[in-house]
Amino acid sequence: MALLRARNPKASNAAEIEKKIKRGNALRQGSSWRSSRALFALLLVAVCASAVATWLYLTSLDGDITETLASRRELVSPQPRVYSVQCSEDYQNHKRYPGCTPQSCGRAVTDAMVTREEAHALRRLAERGLALAGSEGGASILDLHSGALSMGKQFVNIYRYFGDQISDVFTAEDFKLYRDVRERIQAVIAETFGLDPTLMYLTKPTFFSRINSTAAKTQHDEYWHPHIDKVTYGSFDYTSLLYLSDYGSDFTGGRFVFMDQNGNRTVEPRAGRVSFFSSGSENLHRVEKVTWGTRYAITVSFTCDPAHAISDPTLP
Ligand SMILES: *[C@@H]1O[C@H](CO)[C@@H](O)[C@H](O)[C@H]1NC(C)=O
Ligand SMILES: *[C@@H]1O[C@H](CO)[C@@H](O)[C@H](O)[C@H]1NC(C)=O
Repeated sequence: MALLRARNPKASNAAEIEKKIKRGNALRQGSSWRSSRALFALLLVAVCASAVATWLYLTSLDGDITETLASRRELVSPQPRVYSVQCSEDYQNHKRYPGCTPQSCGRAVTDAMVTREEAHALRRLAERGLALAGSEGGASILDLHSGALSMGKQFVNIYRYFGDQISDVFTAEDFKLYRDVRERIQAVIAETFGLDPTLMYLTKPTFFSRINSTAAKTQHDEYWHPHIDKVTYGSFDYTSLLYLSDYGSDFTGGRFVFMDQNGNRTVEPRAGRVSFFSSGSENLHRVEKVTWGTRYAITVSFTCDPAHAISDPTLP
């Protein structure tokens, strides 16, 4: 071979060069394969990182939500979804009414008490009533019992202010629907908490609310602060909410949040959904700020104390 190489150095050189070129190509192919693999890995890392960032961003937008008790999309039916919570001591500072005062506390959600059609009819009622005036800020209320209606920075009494004309706005059927729905809510609360429904009474304030994203002008517009109903209104024993519009499509923000020590638990509003709970500190809650659209709901409150009972509204 050496001889051959010596004899024909050119040929041997050419063969070696050819070999080198081949090896070089193979090397280049290998390195380009390796670098595209590295690029792919880098891309994967970038995609994962941005997914994590998006997730962190979205969960931070959620306002630290630990759990969704009822989402907008699901239908909680036929049985209410019930969560027990240990009763606070709030009830001990008040007279006890056997058959009504909370013995066991909790919160519940049901979509089976009020139909979406009924909720929409009640929303139209609220729209008509609130169209008569309304708050300058983003939160207005209409209380058919007392007649209180937000107007500018204060309230007027619709029955006094509009007199007989109010029967052009509301019909007897509206008031009948309102009463029917109130009775059903009372029945499901009694059933769920094991109460005698005849020993619980509607109390004030019981009202329609309309919330949009307009900035608050007075304290009355600041609905988003955490609060305890029994502390705010001593007479409350059970609070319920009937939603008249849908979270996500009619409005954004505006979810109901139970603020527990170990996390926040939300109820996403859905037209016809009723959520109810014992009114003490075991159910500290708030409503998220509405960020878009309009949120309608009715707050229906119950007491065990007959001295704080109110009656159903009637047309003048
Ligand atoms: C909120 O409602 C009030 C009363 O209807 C209205 O004047 C205001 O423009 C609304 N705000 C938004 C952001 O839609
Ligand atoms: C509940 O949400 C509030 C903000 O809405 C937040 O400040 C708080 O840390 C949350 N609680 C928990 C335990 O995550």
